[in-house]
Amino acid sequence: MIDGKKVLLSGMQSTGIITLGNYLGALKNWVDLNDDESVQCFYAVMDLHSITVRQDPATLRKNGRTLYALYIAAGLDPEKNCLFFQSHVPAHAQLAWILNCYTYMGEMSRMTQFKDKSAKHADNINTGLFTYPVLMAADILLYQADMVPVGKDQLQHLEIARDIAGRFNGIYGDVFTIPEAYMGKSGAKIMSLQDPTKKMSKSDENPNGSILLLDDTDTIMRKFKRAITDSDGFIAYSEDKPGIKNLIDIYDAVTGNTPEQTVAEFDGKGYGDFKMAVGEAVASTLKPVQDEYARLIADKTYLDSMMKENAAKASYYANKTLRKVYKKVGFIELPR
Ligand code: TYM
Repeated sequence: MIDGKKVLLSGMQSTGIITLGNYLGALKNWVDLNDDESVQCFYAVMDLHSITVRQDPATLRKNGRTLYALYIAAGLDPEKNCLFFQSHVPAHAQLAWILNCYTYMGEMSRMTQFKDKSAKHADNINTGLFTYPVLMAADILLYQADMVPVGKDQLQHLEIARDIAGRFNGIYGDVFTIPEAYMGKSGAKIMSLQDPTKKMSKSDENPNGSILLLDDTDTIMRKFKRAITDSDGFIAYSEDKPGIKNLIDIYDAVTGNTPEQTVAEFDGKGYGDFKMAVGEAVASTLKPVQDEYARLIADKTYLDSMMKENAAKASYYANKTLRKVYKKVGFIELPR
């Protein structure tokens, strides 16, 4: 709790321009909480996590700044929410080291994301990739977060964070708040437009699979036109029609429809019409975010000042927890 408010923490990796999946599964839900006075929110650009896969330094810097500006452009007020870079708060790496010593190899090797990413980057299965969920646990536990809004793909990591916190508390007493998952209203898992059995991802090799938040309207329309569907030719919401189901999920997430309403709206229409409608709805949702982004990214002074202010704020809370942890495990306090 901070000033009687529940604490919420989340973040995204800065490995590329974020996708419509990140937006609908996470960012949009965060923005919906903007005016909720009962929560104090922390949202980080998770740049430490980003280097578990090799990054070009200049591109990583650019993507980090872009993501920070997109958080604000999407509607997160940096005066109300604490928006910061993970690498600006050293306590994340410090706590991660400690938590590594309370986490088992077996737990880490069960993680789906580790298995997927090590298969994809077989030439670079580094130990950072392996202990990635421990750093994520540190992110969450440092702020004593009560709630963590994430998409479905991150639930396994959150479960590990809860296990680590419970184990640590079991040894040292009540040090960490045990966080709960917070699922937003919509968009829990948006799938690739080219392979609806895979999640939409920033790092998809096929650029047509993902809508990126800064794609222009023509690109968005083209990608939706090419979206993989099936040969049935009718619109229905069913697990047997993953391509169409995904398009319905996307349409519903941006319009607020239920699947039944969408199926009724497009009754008797072909896939071509439906894809156009989804594309238009997405493009018009993203346009105001893109316009605001263009304005913000040009304002270096403002972005820099927000980064500085918020890093100091995040550090204050993070260091408070870290000091407590250092004391509990038996480190000697530096004599004054
Ligand atoms: P990342 O960067 O992969 O994704 C950021 C957020 O977007 C959600 N998401 C999706 N939601 C719906 N459909 C999709 N296709 C889709 N793709 C991504 C993710 O669930 C996530 O909420 N490890 C995290 C970043 C992280 C973090 C944390 C999150 C680091 N520390 C602490 C919460 C708390 C990650 O890689 O997310």
